[in-house]
Amino acid sequence: GKSGYDHYMLKEINEQPDALRQCLSGRLDELEGTIEIEELSDLPAPGSVHLVACGTSYHAAMYAATLLREAGVPAAAHLASEYATAPAPLAEDTLVVGISQSGETADTLTALREARARGARTLAVTNQVSSTAARECDDVVYIRAGPEIGVAATKTFSSQLVASLLLVEDLVDVVDDLDPLIEALRDLPGAVQEVLDTTDAREVAAEISGSDAFFFIGRGGQFPVALEGALKCKEISYEHAEGFAAGELKHGPLALVTSETPVFAIVTGDGERARKTISNIKEVEARDAPVVVVTDGRSEAARYADLVLEIPDTHPLTAPVLANVQLQLVSYHLANDLGRPIDKPRNLAKSVTVE
Ligand code: M6R
Repeated sequence: GKSGYDHYMLKEINEQPDALRQCLSGRLDELEGTIEIEELSDLPAPGSVHLVACGTSYHAAMYAATLLREAGVPAAAHLASEYATAPAPLAEDTLVVGISQSGETADTLTALREARARGARTLAVTNQVSSTAARECDDVVYIRAGPEIGVAATKTFSSQLVASLLLVEDLVDVVDDLDPLIEALRDLPGAVQEVLDTTDAREVAAEISGSDAFFFIGRGGQFPVALEGALKCKEISYEHAEGFAAGELKHGPLALVTSETPVFAIVTGDGERARKTISNIKEVEARDAPVVVVTDGRSEAARYADLVLEIPDTHPLTAPVLANVQLQLVSYHLANDLGRPIDKPRNLAKSVTVE
């Protein structure tokens, strides 16, 4: 049942601290200062990585690809439906990773089969034990999010992000100093709980629910979160929403920005990405767009915001998980205010088994 929640989606959003604890369980060794996914013990470090996935899982794949490239490994996320007919060239040591909550998505299975047929080693990152993807791939990493009933992927996305981070760190070294990352991962379920307990997402949703179009911008690891924020918004609220890499706004989408189009900007850390995204915020502000900033408070981004959604300060690599929780909640409350059937949006299915 829904355990007292109005919708499975809200229940599953609230289950995220537990889901992440499960995902992390036994995979962090604080004493040794190591991260290890047991089931991967004999997988060699790949020379390059192709990630294939659809929808929300594709956004997790983008995050994983960003991590791999930061670690110096050539990697790209591919939409599974495109990869199936236009596959990227494989090298001998290319690993092809399929990310799929269900492990049954036809487009993703076809892309993985195509890669296997061309001789690639394949790995599935999935929530479903013994799913087709888990059975057909050479290796499998379980995200351990528990059952997800709502059509909108929520806790499984958070768990995909964390499982991807563990996977990449296990295969290749993403950071020089692992201790702060291990600490941030250990504290992540608590930080997600803090977001759930203190969020202003409901108030933000109420402020903006009269608009017909919503934009989301982010950079680096927050770019896929911007895309995911927009996907969740369109999927359950039926409102027009688009996510952009913050730097792309001025290359076209800025023409759509008016006083009627709220812009969600995700700004974490205080580095170059934050500084540049703040410039992009100023550009939309100049067009009178309502600006909602999702931030850890480390930059001055909140100063340029009409509304702020705060997240706890965490490691740069775990910040996307926290920012995304705020956006999940905004979409949920927006859809709820608009009276949409949140758990079963029109025209959509939980598992898409046709190409
Ligand atoms: O089971 P999968 O992760 O392979 O599903 C892929 C997409 O169909 C899925 O993520 C879809 O985009 C979600 N319903 C979005 O919330």
